[in-house]
Amino acid sequence: MKVRAAALLVIIVAVATAWAVSARERPRPVTQPIAFSHKRHLEEEITCKDCHKYAEDGRYATLPPTKACLLCHEEEQGKHPDEPKVREHAKDGGEIPWAQVNRLVGHVYFSHAAHVKHAGMDCAECHGDMREMTEPVTLPQIGHLDMDRCMSCHEAKGASNDCVACHK
Ligand code: HEC
Ligand code: HEC
Ligand code: HEC
Ligand code: HEC
Ligand code: HEC
Repeated sequence: MKVRAAALLVIIVAVATAWAVSARERPRPVTQPIAFSHKRHLEEEITCKDCHKYAEDGRYATLPPTKACLLCHEEEQGKHPDEPKVREHAKDGGEIPWAQVNRLVGHVYFSHAAHVKHAGMDCAECHGDMREMTEPVTLPQIGHLDMDRCMSCHEAKGASNDCVACHK
């Protein structure tokens, strides 16, 4: 009996430790200022590049400036309670304070152009299907892209695995 109880205690401690570690590492969701739906917008005649201007040929895809929204939202679009917030933020040239969610650690170099333009990859391969997103992004989508993943694809596709290609 004593042995069983001790074994149980060991298991409980192990599980609790694993939980504590994963809870510490699990990123916390951010709060976004407006209930933006990719799904709803991609039903319009609009492409990723209209809002993420450099996603194909720049290093950073970038988040859209408010003037990209005003192209349509200068006038009221529908009755969603968050829709008027676009014009409220835009007053006096203001920007909507989006939180950027996907970000690699500072010592890693990454380029959208290399992957989208040169390697011909689809956004969904790394970010998932944004056409199905009805809520803003609040948790990182690139958590799976650790060094092993980057390097194993580079290995498979014959891209550079020199340390300095990704660490500059
Ligand atoms: C091509 C035109 C167009 C552009 C550009 C555009 N929107 Fe919209 N937006 C719409 C339309 C159309 C609707 C839906 C109206 C309805 O409900 O019938 C909408 C709805 C919304 C809503 C209500 C919730 C939802 O998503 O359905 C929000 C909030 C919103 N837009 C924010 C933005 C922001 C922020 C930007 C800039 C990053 C933006 N829109 C750019 C056309 C546009
Ligand atoms: C090979 C994987 C990969 C592909 C393909 C990819 N992304 Fe990214 N994306 C990333 C990574 C990694 C980051 C974080 C970049 C950083 O921290 O430097 C990121 C960040 C972003 C951001 C945040 C803002 C920014 O400028 O960094 C946006 C927006 C974005 N991507 C949009 C797109 C769009 C749109 C496409 C398709 C045209 C795309 N991405 C294709 C991996 C990818
Ligand atoms: C009408 C403008 C608009 C269009 C079109 C659009 N986006 Fe976005 N995107 C946004 C806005 C605004 C945000 C910030 C709020 C959010 O997360 O929804 C964003 C956020 C993102 C992010 C997360 C960036 C981060 O914080 O790391 C990714 C990835 C992304 N978009 C990919 C795409 C892809 C892929 C497409 C095309 C299939 C696309 N977007 C089309 C406006 C747009
Ligand atoms: C699914 C495949 C895939 C994944 C995942 C991937 N890459 Fe790449 N990457 C490529 C390919 C293919 C190229 C070569 C593009 C070309 O032809 O120029 C490339 C090119 C690059 C380059 C330019 C190299 C040079 O010599 O100029 C950098 C930097 C880079 N990747 C960084 C990263 C980082 C950092 C990650 C992980 C966060 C990553 N990549 C994940 C496929 C991938
Ligand atoms: C294809 C891109 C790529 C290449 C090539 C690459 N790394 Fe990395 N490296 C990464 C990424 C992405 C991270 C961030 C890992 C994470 O956040 O999990 C990283 C993290 C690291 C770290 C920090 C460890 C940590 O846990 O944060 C070290 C040290 C490192 N790399 C060394 C190297 C060395 C040495 C080489 C050459 C043998 C190399 N890397 C080649 C992408 C790369």
